[in-house]
Amino acid sequence: MSARSCLTIVLAAGEGTRMRSSLPKVLHEVAGRTLLAHVLAAVRDAASSSVAVVVGPDHDAVAAEAKRVLPGAGIAVQQQRRGTADAVLAAGEAIARGFDDILVIFADTPFIRPETLQRLRQALANGAAVAVLGFRPKDPSGYGRLIVQDGDLVAIREEKDASARERAIDLCNGGLMALSGQHALAILGQIRNDNAKGEFYLTDAVAIARAMKLGTVAIEVGEDEVSGINTKAALADAEAVMQARLRKAALEAGVTMIAPETVFLQADTTFGKDVVIEPFVVFGPGVSVADKAVIHSFSHLSGAQIGEGASIGPYARLRPGTRIGKGARVGNFVELKEATMEDGAKANHLTYIGDARVGEGANVGAGTITCNYDGVAKHRTDIGRGAFIGSNSALVAPVKIGDGAYVGSGSVITSDVPPDSLGLGRVRQTIKEGWASRLRDLKGAGKKKPSR
Ligand code: UD1
Ligand code: MG
Repeated sequence: MSARSCLTIVLAAGEGTRMRSSLPKVLHEVAGRTLLAHVLAAVRDAASSSVAVVVGPDHDAVAAEAKRVLPGAGIAVQQQRRGTADAVLAAGEAIARGFDDILVIFADTPFIRPETLQRLRQALANGAAVAVLGFRPKDPSGYGRLIVQDGDLVAIREEKDASARERAIDLCNGGLMALSGQHALAILGQIRNDNAKGEFYLTDAVAIARAMKLGTVAIEVGEDEVSGINTKAALADAEAVMQARLRKAALEAGVTMIAPETVFLQADTTFGKDVVIEPFVVFGPGVSVADKAVIHSFSHLSGAQIGEGASIGPYARLRPGTRIGKGARVGNFVELKEATMEDGAKANHLTYIGDARVGEGANVGAGTITCNYDGVAKHRTDIGRGAFIGSNSALVAPVKIGDGAYVGSGSVITSDVPPDSLGLGRVRQTIKEGWASRLRDLKGAGKKKPSR
């Protein structure tokens, strides 16, 4: 089948008014990825040879997202929202270039699997001219019904046009369709808008193909694969379904999770072998976790690479640009941003490290802060290999702490500390002997405390 050429047309011209949002519907995110990107990822994985995305006249942002995900995708504009068949014909020029298979996919249906797209194409390879996805939803209202006679799919009836008997059918149209490239334009050209909505229905392709004595077939799939997203409630349901899928995939890949239902993943989160994730961990986009790393509870990670055997959290916050080396440790209430912790480096408690490098094996004491922002620009802090930063230090960037250097606790470091030396930036301690007992004596006598 791989020898057959394929054009996939992704319909993304919908208004999405029921989302009550200024953002186009297909740019809403599930598991950190837009609905459109989910669909395009399935299309890419199904090895479709060409892709056309149909957008509305003012949907530049949708076109830009399509190009970001699939730079080779063509963009077609549907000037008026006149129905799904009209939307497909907006990509008519691409269809006319000649393909064996035409796949039509809705951009608001993010759960579609590449395998299912292959099954639709296989039906064409087996001789059908039109193949559709059927499913049996718990509540069929609103969906087109598949009319099957003697085991053959003969038509799809939209709910508004259906008779009471037809409405009782529980096998519904999942919306996605495969059309033989040889016949697609002839079929689409015959679709009229003589129906309850006055729209050009793609679903009419089935009855037209039958009238042309061409084969039609329905392939049944589970409801969660074809449920479309039209509301914020459906978006939240979709997130739950996607999280369940991602957790299952992570467990199958060998990740240990004690309470997977409390861990939130992203579509692009990647794991090595023997990774442990404790309960209540949130992954944002762009995180990779290497072999044997442990992510402790209540940590929030985004845009971070975690090295082999590293230990993160509990209560760690890793922001974009974080790189954690092998065996490095990031403990509780530690925040990192645009920062590298090299192999074996440690920051175990209450620390902010931003725009910085922490060299191999260096130790950053509790309460250390890199002062990376002067109100105008960001500056870098560079901590050398094996350096030791005493607790509660402020490293005022730009500043360098040399390899093997020490910084005394409580220092405010404003100039570079050379390798293997000690940097102190604090007031020298003074001792006033007997001061405390004199205070107590005076207080006891109802007097003021002694002057320093
Ligand atoms: C459609 C199907 C219905 C099926 C259901 C499954 C038709 C006529 N009906 O109904 O049988 O059960 O999906 O979810 O196909 N779009 C455009 N331009 C248009 C119209 C639609 O790009 O002019 C896009 C929308 O953005 C959306 C998709 O096509 O992504 C489906 O359109 P929608 O209006 O949601 O169709 P349904 O009424 O849900
Ligand atoms: Mg819909």
